[in-house]
Amino acid sequence: MTKSPRLRRAGQVVLGLALTLIVAGCASNAPQDTLKPEGKYARQIDNLFKPVFLIAVVVFILVEGLVLFSVLKYRRRSDDLDEPADFPEQIHGSTKLEIGWTILPAVVLGLVAIVTIPVIFTLNSHPKGSMDITVTGQKYWWAYDYPTQPDVGITKAITTANELHIPAGKTVYLSLKSKDVIHSFWAPRLNGKRDVVPGRVHTWLLQADKPGVYSGQCAEFCGTSHANMRLKVVAHDPASWDKWVATMEAPLTKPTSGLAAEGYTLFQQKGCSGCHKVDGQWDEVAAGNPSAPNLTKLFTRDCFAGCIYNLDDRNELEAWLRNPQRKAGSLMKIGQLSEDEIDRLYAYLQTLK
Ligand code: CUA
Repeated sequence: MTKSPRLRRAGQVVLGLALTLIVAGCASNAPQDTLKPEGKYARQIDNLFKPVFLIAVVVFILVEGLVLFSVLKYRRRSDDLDEPADFPEQIHGSTKLEIGWTILPAVVLGLVAIVTIPVIFTLNSHPKGSMDITVTGQKYWWAYDYPTQPDVGITKAITTANELHIPAGKTVYLSLKSKDVIHSFWAPRLNGKRDVVPGRVHTWLLQADKPGVYSGQCAEFCGTSHANMRLKVVAHDPASWDKWVATMEAPLTKPTSGLAAEGYTLFQQKGCSGCHKVDGQWDEVAAGNPSAPNLTKLFTRDCFAGCIYNLDDRNELEAWLRNPQRKAGSLMKIGQLSEDEIDRLYAYLQTLK
């Protein structure tokens, strides 16, 4: 018996769709793969996800299998077409079945709840000995404030942006706030998503098993540059953590000559210092101005503007100074700068390390 062309065509479509799904699921370099946890909280979620997903797959196969079976077995066949269809026997309900399919899902969901609830409580706890960091989400970047906490070597409060630095292995307790709209903090390999809601403080835990760089992003649509609101979590080994803290706490040296000194003056003349703090140099931010990333140790970072541009690449920062709207919806307003002014500002910014 040969298959009908329609059946073959349907088979091809199904195969095509399945292949598309399978191929789209493959990526050799996927830094935000939530299925490859690298910390204990992400792992707890993963350990829940896998069995629950398995249950869902079994239920799916069972239900869809029964649907397909009934559709195929009891379909109207071509040799029935000449006669009027028999009106099927009418049955109303089956008490056994009704009770069965009410109780069975309830039991399954009950089991899922039993394993899920403790994880929810763990993820929302405040473990003893954890390190505190306040995270502020805003259009379209993240600010991080580290209060003084001598047990992790921080003897002077630290403020930075875009890159969240943590010691590997340490449990980090984040207090999340928003300056404007709802954002969502998400570093997929270190924990799940946490909404950041204006007027509230939400907390979240992070922990990275090993030193490394873990990328993340805002996971709640927040405006034109939502997709550009990325972040990096940098987990340090003990020596490099101490070095990072020491660098962040060391006072800056004010440039006294050359292009950098001219850039320093220009930084105020062009209004940059009205929004961007630079500790020990530009500490007063004008009231009512949009808050902008603290630039104190800018040149110790790898990325800027919501971590979408590389700071190593001079062209990226110059292009930014030429037109901050290259990131749609950026709140940075700076008039047209001459190439000469850009050089001076760049020279000054480079001293911030
Ligand atoms: Cu912030 Cu999306």
